[in-house]
Amino acid sequence: MKRVGILTSGGDAPGMNACIRAVVRTALAHDLAIVGIRRGYTGLINGDTVPLDRGAIRNTIHLGGTILETSRNSDFYTKEGRLRAAAAIAQMGLDGIVLIGGEGTFHGASLLAADADTAALVGVPGSIDNDVYGTDYCIGFDTAANCAVEAIDRIRDTARSHERLFFIEVMGRTAGFLALESGIAGGAEELVIPEEEVSIDRISDRIRQGFIVGKKSAIVVVAEGDTPGISFKIAREVSERLNFDSRVVVLGHLQRGGPPTLRDRVLGSLLGVAAVEALLDGRSGCMVGEVGGALKCTPLEETWQKKKPLDDDLRRIFVFLSE
Ligand code: F6P
Repeated sequence: MKRVGILTSGGDAPGMNACIRAVVRTALAHDLAIVGIRRGYTGLINGDTVPLDRGAIRNTIHLGGTILETSRNSDFYTKEGRLRAAAAIAQMGLDGIVLIGGEGTFHGASLLAADADTAALVGVPGSIDNDVYGTDYCIGFDTAANCAVEAIDRIRDTARSHERLFFIEVMGRTAGFLALESGIAGGAEELVIPEEEVSIDRISDRIRQGFIVGKKSAIVVVAEGDTPGISFKIAREVSERLNFDSRVVVLGHLQRGGPPTLRDRVLGSLLGVAAVEALLDGRSGCMVGEVGGALKCTPLEETWQKKKPLDDDLRRIFVFLSE
């Protein structure tokens, strides 16, 4: 292992820069050459690189987004696109690549490894959705969840003052991690998550029950699922059912930006070091993650083929803590 590349792909997530910094510093500590690949798989296909020395990553640990930029590249889902990437990797003289991203990134990496005898590929989970199998937490989740909690706290002031019902839509395309944890931490009255079918009856009943025991306002946290904006429809139907005024707030991309929290900086640093050490140990086709406080390597295929479940305990306690 002499020359390593690093890229960020898919949705940006706070803490990615802490991870890039850790990868660069660990590589340099082991006398490896390190090169940045710009804009995820788009840059990989085109051999679009940027030099990464100590200066390039200095004063970046506190920055959200990704200094390497990112993309969602559909060309990578074609064999032709992946063969172009393999040729570019050979041209760049890379022995290993650290890929920071989510399920889509690792799906692409598995396909690339199957198609071509290419550089060693080691993934690092970065996704505010936290939906990657093989790690308890993904880089970016903690910052996004804290952003959602702050928003819920602010909106609760108005909900209480006006005796209103609020629907707060958080991100989370196929998973309810953000909704569940921010819902518990923000003291929400009800949750809508992609893991469960939406039930207007259930939402309305739970809010009605809350009013019966003396609540005068309520907050429902809605995961956007695969239909961003879905909370408007749910809010309209529940409002009609209860004959109660409601408002909708869609947090959207506000949750993806901003300075990473302590947890995301530490996780990014830890996994960045682990990724380079995995390459030095001769590993390939795996993702480094943290499970139960221990570092773990999971085959790339498993990271997107296996569904990471929500924490059953959190789901269980939400039901009665929200009453
Ligand atoms: O993958 C993270 C995520 O923020 C999802 O929660 C959201 O559904 C999606 O990305 C939005 O993607 P884009 O920024 O490409 O619109």
